[in-house]
Amino acid sequence: MTIKIGIIGVGTVGSSVANILKQNREIITARAGKEIEVVIGVVKNINKKRDVDIKLTDNINDVINNKDIDIVVELMGGVDEAFIVVKKALENKKAVITANKALLAYHRYELQDIAKDIPFEFEASIAGGIPIVNALRDGLSANHITSIKGILNGTCNYILTKMISDGTDYNVMLKEAQDLGYAEVDPTLDINGSDAAHKLLILASIAYGIDAKPEDILIEGIQEIEPLDIEFAKKFNYNLKLLGIAKKIGSKVELRVHPTFINSNQLMAKIDGVMNGVSVVGDMVGETIYYGAGAGGNATASAVIANIIDIVRNKKSPMLGFKKSLEGKLELIKADDIVSKYYIRIGVIDQTGVLSEVSSVLAQHNISIESMLQKPNDGVANLLLSTYECKEKSIKNAISKLESLDISIGKPHMIRIES
Ligand code: HSE
Repeated sequence: MTIKIGIIGVGTVGSSVANILKQNREIITARAGKEIEVVIGVVKNINKKRDVDIKLTDNINDVINNKDIDIVVELMGGVDEAFIVVKKALENKKAVITANKALLAYHRYELQDIAKDIPFEFEASIAGGIPIVNALRDGLSANHITSIKGILNGTCNYILTKMISDGTDYNVMLKEAQDLGYAEVDPTLDINGSDAAHKLLILASIAYGIDAKPEDILIEGIQEIEPLDIEFAKKFNYNLKLLGIAKKIGSKVELRVHPTFINSNQLMAKIDGVMNGVSVVGDMVGETIYYGAGAGGNATASAVIANIIDIVRNKKSPMLGFKKSLEGKLELIKADDIVSKYYIRIGVIDQTGVLSEVSSVLAQHNISIESMLQKPNDGVANLLLSTYECKEKSIKNAISKLESLDISIGKPHMIRIES
C-alpha cells in the first residue's frame, strides 16, 4: 500500500518535500516500511512555473476532501484560514503535518482537542531542520525542564551577526536574509520577535504544559539596536542574540523573547548567521544543545518528511507531549515580575552632575550599577551601563523617570543580560 500525501502550499518547502521524497525514495521507503507518494499539491496560482513535478490544483478541497489522501501537509502559512483548513482535514480523519508556527501559537490546544488520536505533527514549525520537538517531547521526557534558551529566528540572527562583524546597513542585511529565503512573507514578524515567540510558545507547551498566547508574554524585537549597543557588548565580552527564553522557577514559568547580551564564551554565543540553536536544560540530563538550519527548503522539508515517516510507522507521541493535563500546576510569571540584569543606553547633556543624577534615579528604584561606559559626542554623552539583577518593573519605572529628566536626550534603551 502506498501512503498518499497532499500538500497545501507548494512553495520552497512544499517543492522540497516532493523532490526529496523522490530523490531519497529508496532510503525513505526502507525506513518507513511503505512507499510514500505526493499525489497532489494546492497552489494559489496554477500557471506559475515551479521546480516540482506533481499534479497541481488551486482548490483546497481536492486535498482535504479527497478520499485517497492519507496525510495532509499544511504549508500555506497564516492563522485564520490555515486553522479552518487544518480543522477540516482533521475532521475528515486525515493525519496532518504543519510547519505553521503562527497557527500553533494561537490554536495548538484547540487543534490537539480536534485531532484526538489522529496524528498531528509539527516538527518543521520550530527551528526548521533541528529535531527539537522530538528531542524535547520524547528524548527528554523523563526530566523537569529547567530552562530553554533558543536562537529561533535566523533572520534576526543574521542581522545581529552582521551588525557585530561588519556593521552593514540594517536594510541591506534584511534584504539578504529575504534573498536566502529565511524571512517571513511579512518580515516584521521576524524583526519584532513574533516569529521567535510563536516557536517559544510551542516549546513551552511541550516542556511545561502551559497554554500561553503571544499577548501573554514579553516580546521585544531587534528594531532599536544601535551601533553603540554593539560597542558596549564588545567592550564587556558579550554577544547579542535574539533569544527565546523559558525558565522554570519553583512552580512558576517565565517566557520571554528579546535581544539579549550573553557572554561571548558561551556555546550559544557562537551560533552565528542564519543558523538556529537551542539549549535545553533538564533536571536529570543537564544541558543539551541543538544546532542547525532554522529554515530553507531542504532543511524544513527534512523535518516534514521525518514526521511523515513517523506517521507511516505508527509512532504515537501525544501531540504536545502530555497524556494527562498538567493544567494549574505551573503558573506563568507576569512580565513585570521577571528578574534580570540589564544594560541601559541613555543620552544625556554632557555637563557636571549628570552622572550622579542618573545614578540617583537608579538608586531610588533600588537598582545597583555593575559597570559603565561613557561615550561623549558633540555635547551629548551617551551613558552605557549594566546593572545587577532587579525586577523588570523597577527597570521600566527607572527608565521612564530617566526619560523625563531635563538632562535626558532621546529615549533611553534597555537590553536584558543573561548570565
Ligand atoms: N522566518 C524564520 C526565520 C523562518 O527567519 O528563522 C523559519 O521559521
